[in-house]
Amino acid sequence: MSMRLPFMKNKQKEEPEQLPPENVPAHVAIIMDGNGRWAKKRGLPRVAGHREGVTVVKEVVRAASKMNVQILTLYTFSTENWKRPKSEIDFIMKLPKEFLHVYLPELMENNVKLETIGDIDALPEHTKEVILYAKDKTKNNNGLILNFALNYGSRYEIMQAVRQMMTDVDSAKLSIEKLDEHTFSSYLYTKGLTDPDLLIRTSGEQRISNFLLWQLAYTEFWFTDVLWPDFNKDILRQAIEDYQQRKRRYGGI
Ligand code: FPP
Repeated sequence: MSMRLPFMKNKQKEEPEQLPPENVPAHVAIIMDGNGRWAKKRGLPRVAGHREGVTVVKEVVRAASKMNVQILTLYTFSTENWKRPKSEIDFIMKLPKEFLHVYLPELMENNVKLETIGDIDALPEHTKEVILYAKDKTKNNNGLILNFALNYGSRYEIMQAVRQMMTDVDSAKLSIEKLDEHTFSSYLYTKGLTDPDLLIRTSGEQRISNFLLWQLAYTEFWFTDVLWPDFNKDILRQAIEDYQQRKRRYGGI
């Protein structure tokens, strides 16, 4: 359970996004899990869970923006998700278009900048096209960064980084002596983004699933049994309030 600060006691229910302003996590990453189980419980096809999941994404983006979160990274499709039935993959690949078709004007209005991590070149052309369009359209926005992990796998990301670093050493663009953690980070998809402060995973699973293995080194983890389609802004606020009570020591005392 989260602890409330004294001045929060009479918080208005209508303003659930209000948080103690200090110590809001700058970067929140979410593993949105449980769409399939949510649908199954209702006797619906799995894809109904994904569709409902998109609605939750919209609510969470709005709330995170109001709470002054700076970066929201959402695990939308992993490199392992290609193992799913083609019909489910095809459905998921249509979601960015559905989402952005309706929601892009609101992203613009709220000054949200869309970014991606992962290999988007390998996505179907129609998916890639809409993502690139929205990234370009929002590129000058300087509010919340909405970062979709799309065709993302952390081991692949690290391996690509090593490959590129070796190439750069070969061509004398990088010297081995100069290679440090900062330089290493700059070869990752997340270049320029701070590491997540808070990782949320829904649906009761407690594992990382090849997500941001390097970047989560000092991240606070928060798990909930709630399935992603049942997640909402109040649960996000609860996760953040819990985070605000934690002491981060980064290995110190
Ligand atoms: C995990 O639930 C969910 C996914 C792999 C897909 C996540 C996609 C969305 C929530 C849609 C968001 C997309 C956009 C573009 C806004 P699962 O299917 O693994 O659930 P299960 O573990 O219950 O089977």
